[in-house]
Amino acid sequence: MSLDCVLNTAVRSAPPWYPCPGTLVAARANADLWTSEGDRIPRQLCRVCGRVCVGVCVCALMLMMWVLVLSGATAVLLLLLWMLLTCLPRRSGQPTHKTSAQPKDAHSRPLFSLSSLLPHRVSPSLPGPPSLPLLGNLLDLMQDHLPGHLTSLSRCYGNIFRLRCGKTTMVVLSSAETIKEALVTKWSDFAGRPHSYTGDLVSGGGCSISLGDYSEKWKAHRRLVHGALQRCCAVSLHAVIERQALALRQVILDYNQKPVDLLEDFTVAASNVITSLVFGKADNKSSAELRRLHDCLNEIVSLWGSPCISALDSFPLLRKLPNPPFSRLLKEVERRDDIIRSHLEDFKVSQQRSANPNVCATVYVQMLTETHVHMATVDLLIGGTETTAVWLYWMVAFLLHRPEVQASVYSELCTVLESRYPRYSDRHRLPYLSALVSEVLRIRPVAPLAVPHRATRDSSIAGYFIPKDTIIIPNLYGAHHDPAVWDDPDTFKPERFLEGKGASTRALLPFGGGARLCLGASVARMEVFLFTAYLLRDFQFLPTGGKASLPDLKGVASVVLKAKPFRVTVRPRP
Ligand code: HEM
Repeated sequence: MSLDCVLNTAVRSAPPWYPCPGTLVAARANADLWTSEGDRIPRQLCRVCGRVCVGVCVCALMLMMWVLVLSGATAVLLLLLWMLLTCLPRRSGQPTHKTSAQPKDAHSRPLFSLSSLLPHRVSPSLPGPPSLPLLGNLLDLMQDHLPGHLTSLSRCYGNIFRLRCGKTTMVVLSSAETIKEALVTKWSDFAGRPHSYTGDLVSGGGCSISLGDYSEKWKAHRRLVHGALQRCCAVSLHAVIERQALALRQVILDYNQKPVDLLEDFTVAASNVITSLVFGKADNKSSAELRRLHDCLNEIVSLWGSPCISALDSFPLLRKLPNPPFSRLLKEVERRDDIIRSHLEDFKVSQQRSANPNVCATVYVQMLTETHVHMATVDLLIGGTETTAVWLYWMVAFLLHRPEVQASVYSELCTVLESRYPRYSDRHRLPYLSALVSEVLRIRPVAPLAVPHRATRDSSIAGYFIPKDTIIIPNLYGAHHDPAVWDDPDTFKPERFLEGKGASTRALLPFGGGARLCLGASVARMEVFLFTAYLLRDFQFLPTGGKASLPDLKGVASVVLKAKPFRVTVRPRP
């Protein structure tokens, strides 16, 4: 099959989102919905009946039946629950300004957004907080700083405990030992992802790597994208990061020491790295297209993390009630798909002229469907942008609190490198800088609860029986604050990682582990190291005023754990 032919076939199987006349909500089309070979008009897939819907269908009837069902006592309960959910503010600190990115789409999911209706068969002796009838531990799961809350629950109930939500049982792991047992030692037992209604909607029906369930097809998809990413990284990653670090330097110089919020600049730099790898081209800050994509990805992750959308997974009847945030989510997903599709179209045209190595080219020629290429692009853009940007933002926030760390890194850079810029291979000669990187990864893991896993078969963790389909929550934040492993875990102390100071990077799990290890871990490691080295070599970060102007260090936990917005004065080094 020629490349042209692959592309044509792939384009036909792209996943457009379109309204269903029966339900007036968006629905996903897939390859088998094309009416005939070559026919470009998809039939409508009805969200209510989940089948191909021709004109007015039984959905209207079903909707009426739902109204009848909802008129009973169940409806009263559900409405109360609904009011509770919609009255709750979105997790505080969700970006209020459009410019700060959110990812993750690809990265994580609030824990209560789990829809499978599982029997409670987990080991009866597994401890956990008391749960309410119907609601289970929903109130625990709606806490403002969920990773912190789960970590304090682990102090009462241990490093493995259970939570319930609707009929779903989840097992929370809060130590490196239990997390490694599940994700690394018994990796194939826990490599699944929970099936969820809203997860399917944002992931092209589970075709993404981050939300797709463990299967032969998923393995092939991940292997292919991982291989392509590794090959592009080997050829060009270092140079791409260096270019972006120098571009970031110029942007910061142009601020002329005015107090600034750097999150957007970090986001643009990180996004340019990943866009260069994926499409073989970079954007710049003024690109309206790039900003549109950031806003859209932010909005998707932030909406998807909101309680009134997550609740649709655990309480299916709520899907029948009006839900403006959910309608917005569907619109944003559609917008995202349009933008990515147009990038892929441009890519195909430019590819005929370019010889640059990039992920898309490799994945296309390996004959995955357009949907797979599309969702892998989403995975990489979402996974690779906000995480790195938020990490850099945390690094600056902590350095403002401990200026002496900044001074030590600067003096190390001057001594070891003299006047040149660092290379990644210098990391072993820069122990203080490496310790700073490790400590920020430890104290604020940007994906604090990873992404929920699912047991693919009956298994056990720490001696407790864990039945197939149980949802596993790796509480990375908890493991990184475990007092049994870390001395004074709540204090920012990069020195702990210096030789002879007792802390080991082996207890760090910022990228998860096993079959679901972060796909971009090696990209991220090089990025955070080089960006930090360039920034601290060229600049000194100073608070904009007295103590009161120092950034808050608790942060806001949604899908990604991010610092609240703050401003900083950046002074060029002599
Ligand atoms: C500081 C930066 C980053 C951190 C801390 C981070 C952390 C994580 C974590 C904890 C997971 C979930 C692992 C699990 O489910 O157990 C994950 C998954 C993922 N990350 Fe990252 N990540 C970072 C950067 C990146 C970058 C740069 C990319 C892309 C180039 C990326 C792409 C992905 C993808 C695609 C997944 C899903 C993997 C799967 O489900 O198989 N991440 N990441």
